[in-house]
Amino acid sequence: MGTSTASSFDLIGPTALAAAYSRQFSDIPYALEIAQKVDAQTVFEQHTGHHLERLTTLVLWIESRYKAINHLIAMFGYTQIIELASGLLPRGMAMSENPNVTFVESDLPAMIDFKKQLVMQLIGERRNLQFEAIDATSIPSQFPIDADYLHDSEKVAILCEGLLLYLSFPEKERVCANVRNMLQRYGGVWITPDLSTKDGWYRLQEINPTIHKTFQAIYNTTGRSLIDNCFNDMEHARQFFIEQGFCVEEYKLIEILGEISDLERPGIDSDQANHLLATNSVFALTLNS
Ligand SMILES: C[S@@+](CC[C@H](N)C(=O)[O-])C[C@H]1O[C@@H](n2cnc3c(N)ncnc32)[C@H](O)[C@@H]1O
Repeated sequence: MGTSTASSFDLIGPTALAAAYSRQFSDIPYALEIAQKVDAQTVFEQHTGHHLERLTTLVLWIESRYKAINHLIAMFGYTQIIELASGLLPRGMAMSENPNVTFVESDLPAMIDFKKQLVMQLIGERRNLQFEAIDATSIPSQFPIDADYLHDSEKVAILCEGLLLYLSFPEKERVCANVRNMLQRYGGVWITPDLSTKDGWYRLQEINPTIHKTFQAIYNTTGRSLIDNCFNDMEHARQFFIEQGFCVEEYKLIEILGEISDLERPGIDSDQANHLLATNSVFALTLNS
């Protein structure tokens, strides 16, 4: 199982509350209810020591990656969805409103137990919404291969947002192995915005010079450096996933969401928002057969 223990991953857990807090400023269904129920604002302020402005780059980035992933899910049209590192994401609650969808939320054991209780309080039990404790890096795999709620004949969409950027390269390779295994069995696609690069972080820093404070707070909380764990540039990222057996399709957020239309609201700095959308992407990874 490599060098990291489960408890070193558990330190990443509080970042899920920061993401939930960011989403409370969006129009994403259930985002506000979740953030308020877990008092995400207090946890965020305790960990970072500062308030989040409703229109910071972090808020726009987290909202836009969520919406872009939803676009790709709709584009591929698969109805079996396996979300890794779900944290406090509301997608499972929203998508399982469609009875034709089978949605699997997963995370480390403590986080997914917590999430399940939260979802029960907000919407109650749903036959097509499952909760699984999955360490995405675990070898042997903890993915729900052969789970009785999955149909062999239907492809899967595997999702993760805000996971790979915390993981070391050997840990990323283990996630790749587990995803590959699942896609070999069911077919489908891995949708993720997590191919973050040093180039990208530096660009983000140009738009928002205070972002380094967020990086420092993340390092203090998780013991993991987003900079050390990211790819040098997009070529490095592509090469990594090609070596792991994937084809990489890139979709720029601006192509998917259009100029800030999906993020628009009073007070937004549209230049900043458009720059963010033009320089960030979500990726569809399929098996390179
Ligand atoms: C930045 S949060 C992102 C949460 C959610 N995806 C979102 O966008 O709000 C990182 C999440 O990764 C989870 N995590 C950390 N290590 C993990 C692992 N090895 N396997 C699965 N999940 C993990 C944490 O518990 C946490 O929920």
